[in-house]
Amino acid sequence: MHSATFIDNIKLIIVKDKNKGGELVASLIQHFLKYKKKSVFGLATGETMIPIYANLKKLYRKRRINFSYVKTFNLDEYIGLNINDKESLRRFMDTNFFDYVNIRKVNIGFLDGKAKDSKKECKKYEKKIEGAGGIDLQILGIGRDGHIGFNEPGSSIKSKTRKVKLSATTKKDNKSFFKLSKVPDYALTIGISNILQAKQIVLIAFGKNKSKAINLAINGKISNKIPASFLRKHPNVTLVLDKSAASQLLKNNK
Ligand code: F6R
Repeated sequence: MHSATFIDNIKLIIVKDKNKGGELVASLIQHFLKYKKKSVFGLATGETMIPIYANLKKLYRKRRINFSYVKTFNLDEYIGLNINDKESLRRFMDTNFFDYVNIRKVNIGFLDGKAKDSKKECKKYEKKIEGAGGIDLQILGIGRDGHIGFNEPGSSIKSKTRKVKLSATTKKDNKSFFKLSKVPDYALTIGISNILQAKQIVLIAFGKNKSKAINLAINGKISNKIPASFLRKHPNVTLVLDKSAASQLLKNNK
Protein backbone atom coordinates (compact mmCIF):
# COMPACT_ATOMS: atom_id res chain seq x y z
CA MET A 1 0.00 0.00 0.00
CA HIS A 2 1.07 3.57 -0.56
CA SER A 3 0.54 6.11 2.15
CA ALA A 4 -0.88 9.49 1.27
CA THR A 5 -0.14 12.84 2.87
CA PHE A 6 -1.52 16.27 2.17
CA ILE A 7 0.18 19.52 1.25
CA ASP A 8 -2.61 22.02 1.84
CA ASN A 9 -5.53 20.53 -0.08
CA ILE A 10 -3.37 18.48 -2.48
CA LYS A 11 -3.14 14.77 -1.81
CA LEU A 12 0.39 13.46 -2.31
CA ILE A 13 1.23 9.83 -3.02
CA ILE A 14 4.85 8.82 -3.42
CA VAL A 15 5.65 5.56 -5.16
CA LYS A 16 8.91 3.66 -5.49
CA ASP A 17 9.21 3.98 -9.26
CA LYS A 18 7.23 4.58 -12.45
CA ASN A 19 6.07 0.98 -12.67
CA LYS A 20 4.51 1.18 -9.21
CA GLY A 21 3.08 4.55 -10.23
CA GLY A 22 1.53 3.00 -13.34
CA GLU A 23 -0.04 0.24 -11.22
CA LEU A 24 -1.41 2.74 -8.76
CA VAL A 25 -2.99 5.09 -11.31
CA ALA A 26 -4.43 2.13 -13.27
CA SER A 27 -6.05 0.77 -10.10
CA LEU A 28 -7.38 4.23 -9.30
CA ILE A 29 -9.06 4.29 -12.72
CA GLN A 30 -10.34 0.74 -12.13
CA HIS A 31 -11.97 1.80 -8.84
CA PHE A 32 -13.39 4.91 -10.45
CA LEU A 33 -15.09 2.72 -13.05
CA LYS A 34 -16.59 0.48 -10.37
CA TYR A 35 -18.59 3.43 -9.09
CA LYS A 36 -19.27 5.09 -12.45
CA LYS A 37 -19.33 2.81 -15.48
CA LYS A 38 -20.00 5.74 -17.80
CA SER A 39 -17.03 7.79 -16.70
CA VAL A 40 -15.57 10.56 -18.83
CA PHE A 41 -11.77 10.58 -18.67
CA GLY A 42 -9.41 13.34 -19.71
CA LEU A 43 -6.24 11.69 -20.97
CA ALA A 44 -2.65 12.68 -21.70
CA THR A 45 0.15 11.36 -23.89
CA GLY A 46 3.91 11.20 -23.32
CA GLU A 47 6.55 9.12 -21.60
CA THR A 48 4.92 9.36 -18.14
CA MET A 49 1.71 7.79 -19.39
CA ILE A 50 3.30 4.65 -20.84
CA PRO A 51 3.34 2.63 -17.57
CA ILE A 52 -0.22 3.75 -16.84
CA TYR A 53 -1.59 2.55 -20.16
CA ALA A 54 0.50 -0.64 -19.89
CA ASN A 55 -1.15 -1.43 -16.55
CA LEU A 56 -4.63 -0.58 -17.82
CA LYS A 57 -4.08 -2.96 -20.75
CA LYS A 58 -2.98 -5.64 -18.28
CA LEU A 59 -6.16 -5.17 -16.22
CA TYR A 60 -8.21 -5.38 -19.42
CA ARG A 61 -6.49 -8.61 -20.52
CA LYS A 62 -7.43 -10.11 -17.16
CA ARG A 63 -11.01 -8.87 -17.71
CA ARG A 64 -10.83 -6.76 -14.58
CA ILE A 65 -11.78 -3.50 -16.23
CA ASN A 66 -14.41 -2.55 -18.78
CA PHE A 67 -14.18 0.50 -21.00
CA SER A 68 -17.30 -0.09 -23.08
CA TYR A 69 -19.23 2.82 -21.55
CA VAL A 70 -16.24 5.11 -21.13
CA LYS A 71 -15.74 8.36 -23.03
CA THR A 72 -12.29 9.93 -23.35
CA PHE A 73 -10.99 13.34 -24.34
CA ASN A 74 -7.28 13.89 -24.87
CA LEU A 75 -5.66 17.13 -23.87
CA ASP A 76 -3.86 18.05 -27.04
CA GLU A 77 -2.69 17.41 -30.60
CA TYR A 78 0.05 18.86 -32.79
CA ILE A 79 -1.00 21.27 -35.51
CA GLY A 80 -0.62 19.61 -38.90
CA LEU A 81 -0.97 16.05 -37.58
CA ASN A 82 -3.93 13.78 -36.96
CA ILE A 83 -4.90 10.10 -36.75
CA ASN A 84 -3.30 9.44 -40.16
CA ASP A 85 0.14 10.53 -39.02
CA LYS A 86 2.53 8.20 -37.24
CA GLU A 87 3.82 10.90 -34.93
CA SER A 88 0.45 12.33 -33.93
CA LEU A 89 -0.65 12.19 -30.32
CA ARG A 90 -3.76 10.37 -31.50
CA ARG A 91 -1.57 7.63 -32.95
CA PHE A 92 0.34 7.50 -29.66
CA MET A 93 -2.96 6.78 -27.90
CA ASP A 94 -3.99 4.10 -30.43
CA THR A 95 -0.68 2.25 -30.26
CA ASN A 96 -0.24 2.54 -26.49
CA PHE A 97 -3.81 2.08 -25.35
CA PHE A 98 -6.97 2.41 -27.45
CA ASP A 99 -6.16 -0.43 -29.88
CA TYR A 100 -5.82 -2.89 -26.98
CA VAL A 101 -8.98 -2.25 -24.95
CA ASN A 102 -12.72 -2.26 -25.56
CA ILE A 103 -13.16 1.46 -25.82
CA ARG A 104 -15.55 2.39 -28.63
CA LYS A 105 -14.00 4.54 -31.38
CA VAL A 106 -17.04 6.86 -31.29
CA ASN A 107 -16.32 7.53 -27.63
CA ILE A 108 -12.79 8.78 -28.27
CA GLY A 109 -12.56 12.57 -28.34
CA PHE A 110 -9.52 14.18 -29.97
CA LEU A 111 -8.60 17.60 -31.28
CA ASP A 112 -7.96 17.49 -35.03
CA GLY A 113 -4.55 19.03 -35.71
CA LYS A 114 -5.43 19.23 -39.39
CA ALA A 115 -8.66 21.18 -38.93
CA LYS A 116 -8.84 24.06 -41.43
CA ASP A 117 -10.29 26.44 -38.86
CA SER A 118 -8.57 25.82 -35.52
CA LYS A 119 -10.82 28.26 -33.63
CA LYS A 120 -13.90 26.41 -34.80
CA GLU A 121 -12.28 23.06 -33.98
CA CYS A 122 -11.50 24.21 -30.41
CA LYS A 123 -15.05 25.49 -29.82
CA LYS A 124 -16.46 22.23 -31.19
CA TYR A 125 -14.22 20.23 -28.83
CA GLU A 126 -15.30 22.21 -25.78
CA LYS A 127 -18.96 21.71 -26.76
CA LYS A 128 -18.35 17.97 -27.14
CA ILE A 129 -16.82 17.73 -23.65
CA GLU A 130 -19.71 19.74 -22.24
CA GLY A 131 -22.18 17.50 -24.06
CA ALA A 132 -20.60 14.42 -22.46
CA GLY A 133 -21.25 15.95 -19.04
CA GLY A 134 -17.70 17.25 -18.47
CA ILE A 135 -14.57 15.41 -17.41
CA ASP A 136 -14.91 13.22 -14.31
CA LEU A 137 -11.23 12.42 -13.95
CA GLN A 138 -8.43 14.33 -15.67
CA ILE A 139 -5.05 12.62 -15.92
CA LEU A 140 -2.12 15.01 -16.34
CA GLY A 141 1.62 14.91 -16.83
CA ILE A 142 3.82 17.96 -16.33
CA GLY A 143 6.49 19.52 -18.53
CA ARG A 144 9.89 20.53 -17.16
CA ASP A 145 8.76 24.12 -17.74
CA GLY A 146 5.65 23.53 -15.61
CA HIS A 147 3.20 23.14 -18.48
CA ILE A 148 0.03 21.06 -18.26
CA GLY A 149 -1.60 19.98 -21.49
CA PHE A 150 0.31 22.25 -23.84
CA ASN A 151 -0.40 25.29 -21.68
CA GLU A 152 3.09 26.72 -21.67
CA PRO A 153 4.40 29.34 -19.21
CA GLY A 154 2.43 32.55 -19.77
CA SER A 155 -0.92 30.71 -20.12
CA SER A 156 -3.62 32.37 -18.06
CA ILE A 157 -5.89 30.61 -15.56
CA LYS A 158 -8.77 31.68 -17.82
CA SER A 159 -7.25 30.15 -20.96
CA LYS A 160 -9.58 28.08 -23.11
CA THR A 161 -9.05 25.48 -25.82
CA ARG A 162 -6.83 27.11 -28.42
CA LYS A 163 -3.83 27.08 -30.72
CA VAL A 164 -0.52 27.52 -28.87
CA LYS A 165 3.17 27.85 -29.73
CA LEU A 166 5.31 25.17 -28.12
CA SER A 167 8.27 26.26 -26.00
CA ALA A 168 11.83 25.30 -26.90
CA THR A 169 11.97 23.05 -23.79
CA THR A 170 8.81 21.19 -24.81
CA LYS A 171 10.06 20.67 -28.36
CA LYS A 172 13.38 19.36 -27.08
CA ASP A 173 11.67 16.99 -24.63
CA ASN A 174 9.40 15.55 -27.32
CA LYS A 175 12.14 15.03 -29.90
CA SER A 176 12.41 11.32 -29.11
CA PHE A 177 8.86 10.81 -30.44
CA PHE A 178 9.85 12.26 -33.83
CA LYS A 179 12.12 9.94 -35.74
CA LEU A 180 12.16 11.59 -39.16
CA SER A 181 10.54 14.97 -38.99
CA LYS A 182 10.97 17.82 -36.51
CA VAL A 183 8.61 18.51 -33.62
CA PRO A 184 5.82 20.83 -34.84
CA ASP A 185 5.95 24.46 -33.63
CA TYR A 186 2.26 24.68 -32.77
CA ALA A 187 -0.40 22.57 -31.10
CA LEU A 188 -4.04 22.66 -30.08
CA THR A 189 -4.64 22.23 -26.37
CA ILE A 190 -7.51 22.48 -23.95
CA GLY A 191 -6.95 25.47 -21.67
CA ILE A 192 -6.24 25.82 -17.96
CA SER A 193 -9.86 26.85 -17.34
CA ASN A 194 -11.03 23.65 -19.05
CA ILE A 195 -8.65 21.50 -17.00
CA LEU A 196 -9.85 23.13 -13.77
CA GLN A 197 -13.44 22.22 -14.65
CA ALA A 198 -12.68 18.49 -14.28
CA LYS A 199 -14.28 17.01 -11.16
CA GLN A 200 -11.07 15.29 -10.11
CA ILE A 201 -7.45 15.66 -11.27
CA VAL A 202 -4.45 13.34 -10.98
CA LEU A 203 -1.07 14.82 -11.86
CA ILE A 204 1.72 12.31 -12.39
CA ALA A 205 5.48 12.88 -12.57
CA PHE A 206 8.40 10.48 -12.64
CA GLY A 207 12.11 11.24 -12.62
CA LYS A 208 14.52 13.82 -11.30
CA ASN A 209 14.06 16.14 -14.29
CA LYS A 210 10.51 16.87 -13.09
CA SER A 211 11.42 17.64 -9.46
CA LYS A 212 11.98 21.38 -9.99
CA ALA A 213 8.69 21.94 -11.83
CA ILE A 214 6.81 19.93 -9.18
CA ASN A 215 8.38 21.90 -6.35
CA LEU A 216 7.62 25.25 -8.00
CA ALA A 217 4.05 24.16 -8.78
CA ILE A 218 3.35 23.23 -5.14
CA ASN A 219 5.61 25.56 -3.13
CA GLY A 220 6.09 28.51 -5.47
CA LYS A 221 3.75 31.39 -6.20
CA ILE A 222 0.53 30.54 -8.02
CA SER A 223 1.29 32.21 -11.33
CA ASN A 224 1.26 31.78 -15.08
CA LYS A 225 5.05 31.30 -14.96
CA ILE A 226 4.34 27.73 -13.79
CA PRO A 227 0.93 26.81 -15.24
CA ALA A 228 0.70 23.66 -13.04
CA SER A 229 0.60 25.95 -9.97
CA PHE A 230 -3.01 26.81 -10.94
CA LEU A 231 -3.98 23.28 -9.92
CA ARG A 232 -3.79 24.52 -6.31
CA LYS A 233 -7.04 26.38 -7.06
CA HIS A 234 -8.82 23.05 -7.61
CA PRO A 235 -10.46 21.21 -4.67
CA ASN A 236 -9.64 17.64 -5.70
CA VAL A 237 -6.09 17.10 -6.93
CA THR A 238 -3.90 14.06 -6.30
CA LEU A 239 -0.18 14.10 -7.07
CA VAL A 240 1.43 10.76 -7.88
CA LEU A 241 5.21 11.09 -7.84
CA ASP A 242 8.14 8.74 -7.74
CA LYS A 243 10.86 9.47 -5.19
CA SER A 244 13.04 11.39 -7.67
CA ALA A 245 10.23 13.65 -8.88
CA ALA A 246 9.30 14.31 -5.23
CA SER A 247 12.87 15.03 -4.05
CA GLN A 248 12.79 18.87 -4.09
CA LEU A 249 9.22 19.01 -2.80
CA LEU A 250 10.05 16.84 0.21
CA LYS A 251 13.16 18.88 1.02
CA ASN A 252 11.04 22.02 1.16
CA ASN A 253 8.17 20.56 3.19
CA LYS A 254 10.13 19.08 6.09
C1 F6R B 1 0.68 15.36 -23.27
C2 F6R B 1 0.68 16.59 -22.49
C3 F6R B 1 1.91 17.08 -21.79
C4 F6R B 1 2.74 15.99 -21.11
C5 F6R B 1 4.01 16.58 -20.52
C6 F6R B 1 4.91 15.53 -19.92
O1 F6R B 1 -0.59 15.09 -23.79
O2 F6R B 1 -0.30 17.23 -22.44
O3 F6R B 1 1.55 18.06 -20.85
O4 F6R B 1 1.98 15.38 -20.11
O5 F6R B 1 4.71 17.26 -21.51
O6 F6R B 1 5.40 14.72 -20.93
P1 F6R B 1 6.26 13.42 -20.63
O7 F6R B 1 5.37 12.49 -19.89
O8 F6R B 1 6.65 12.88 -21.99
O9 F6R B 1 7.42 13.85 -19.80
